[in-house]
Amino acid sequence: MAPTLELPGRALVVLVGPAGAGKSTLAERHFAPSEVLSSDAIRAELTGDPGDQRVTRRAFELLDRRLEARLAAGRTCVVDATNVTAAARHSLLRIARVHRTPAVAIVLALDPAIVRARNAGRDRVVPAEAVARHHAALDAALRGDAFRREGFAAVLVLETPEAVEAFRISRRVAPPD
Ligand code: GTP
Ligand code: MG
Repeated sequence: MAPTLELPGRALVVLVGPAGAGKSTLAERHFAPSEVLSSDAIRAELTGDPGDQRVTRRAFELLDRRLEARLAAGRTCVVDATNVTAAARHSLLRIARVHRTPAVAIVLALDPAIVRARNAGRDRVVPAEAVARHHAALDAALRGDAFRREGFAAVLVLETPEAVEAFRISRRVAPPD
């Protein structure tokens, strides 16, 4: 059966995966642009460069504020950032709790060789050491069943390109245009 995520009426959807794993591609395929908050897009707003790490902190402050506003308005919101560390997920989950919004995680846990090849083959190449750190953090989280313990209502782990391709979302409420 195709891996399927059942979305409640409204939700915080946290994408999780190393740089180059395919988070933005998945977001574009399954969600409306107005539902997605991307740390890279916010960095690009601030400096013109989605990879400009000098503004990472400001970008995440802005992302958190926008997430607050969207959840307060009752919208479903997808956070497109690596989210491989517990600290990154913690601030998102806190905001979801404040707004009584269920949080679900879509985890892209692909073979590192596939992610390395994708990262190397695109315009914006993230340093290999950073991608290796992301994989290590994600492996540790999956081994320790961190996502459930942190409070995610559902966790969908996609481990192969075939699973990502077959992935479906089932919504109780139609997405916006
Ligand atoms: P960061 O923004 O750096 O964290 O990466 P990301 O996880 O958003 O990855 P992104 O969606 O940008 O995809 C990285 C590269 O892999 C791009 O060149 C995509 O075209 C390619 N890619 C993503 N998903 C798929 C997929 O399902 N199949 C194939 N063949 N390529 C993919
Ligand atoms: Mg991306």
